[in-house]
Amino acid sequence: MTKLSNRVLEMEESVTLAASARAKALKAQGRDILSLTLGEPDFVTPKNIQDAAIKSIQNGQASFYTVASGLPELKDAIGTYMENFYGYTVPRNQIVVGTGAKYILYALFATVLNPGDEVIIPTPCWVSYVDQVKMVDGVPVTVQTKEANHFKATVEQLENARTDKSKVLLLNSPSNPTGMIYSREELQAIGDWAVKHDILILADDIYGRLVYNGNEFTAISSLSEAIRKQTIVVNGVSKTYAMTGWRVGFAVGDSEIISGMAKVISQTTSNLTAVSQYAAIEALTGDQSSIETMRQAFEERLNTIYPLLAEIPGFEVIKPQGAFYLFPNVKKAMEMKGYTDVTAFTNAILEEAEVALVTGAGFGAPENVRLSYATDLDTLKEAVRRIKEFMEKN
Ligand SMILES: Cc1ncc(COP(=O)(O)O)c(C=O)c1O
Repeated sequence: MTKLSNRVLEMEESVTLAASARAKALKAQGRDILSLTLGEPDFVTPKNIQDAAIKSIQNGQASFYTVASGLPELKDAIGTYMENFYGYTVPRNQIVVGTGAKYILYALFATVLNPGDEVIIPTPCWVSYVDQVKMVDGVPVTVQTKEANHFKATVEQLENARTDKSKVLLLNSPSNPTGMIYSREELQAIGDWAVKHDILILADDIYGRLVYNGNEFTAISSLSEAIRKQTIVVNGVSKTYAMTGWRVGFAVGDSEIISGMAKVISQTTSNLTAVSQYAAIEALTGDQSSIETMRQAFEERLNTIYPLLAEIPGFEVIKPQGAFYLFPNVKKAMEMKGYTDVTAFTNAILEEAEVALVTGAGFGAPENVRLSYATDLDTLKEAVRRIKEFMEKN
């Protein structure tokens, strides 16, 4: 008998984690590798959040199981956050907390998809959506967006992808990997379309606070009552509060779906680690000044590194509006160096320039590479200098 299930055999490994592991392995061999692979802030979690966590351990609160769907106090903190940032109030029964936005997404797919139900996913997209949908026997229907439209799906493209099996539309704005943000008008049109066809909108808003240079994030769920009812917001503290290691994610929306997700969580992970929940309460309701400091640092890095990257021969890059990724089109660069496959090209940059990037292939973008600028400016400048040198070499 084969050891592994077809489900696991068909699953792709996360390309970002694989790229980062390869960079670490080469570093361990003594190579001077600069890694721009991972999507996580390089800052440590702000002190007030650390202190709240330590206190919860020392006073015994963090020793015990909590309600599987999350502490009531954390749900209230999320409610306050929603009121402040999304502009509408949410009762506790429309909020569920889980082990990172990543697991929250999985719990959501497990909750709403029957085998064969389709999830429309505009690509290039984050690496995990497609495999997560497959893991619960859903069908990912990718919609290839156009770089000329800043990698954003149009209603016309969504309508072409719609069938009577379409159940969910996935929206991620600001986007990983493209850094693009859907405008209010674009979201209104997409939201109205989803309401008309009774398609659930999954709004992955995890980068909503990381926007730069006057660009604004619009939450699709805030556009109308009808769209809000049709939307499950997925969010978390990983990116905004430099808390990737704490694994805090949450979903907000229809109470029936939320209680279905709570059931999935209760039978899989049980509650999110209690200490992380206490940390998240402080993150969402405590002093917010550190998040602006971090946002400004990302903005400065973007504004410094973007023009340097755009100067590299063969690299064509649209300036991102949010998140912390640059997503250059390297079609011309590959031609110049004699490559047809972007993964092979990315590996050549790793071997010859000692800079680790992520191939666009895993995001559904065979002409692009992803660079994360969630790292210090000196590393970024040196990495771009090395890539330029690599491109200028015959
Ligand atoms: C688009 C997107 N959604 C969700 C996540 C998951 O975040 P976490 O599980 O750390 O909350 C990530 C992390 O890389 C992401 O880029």
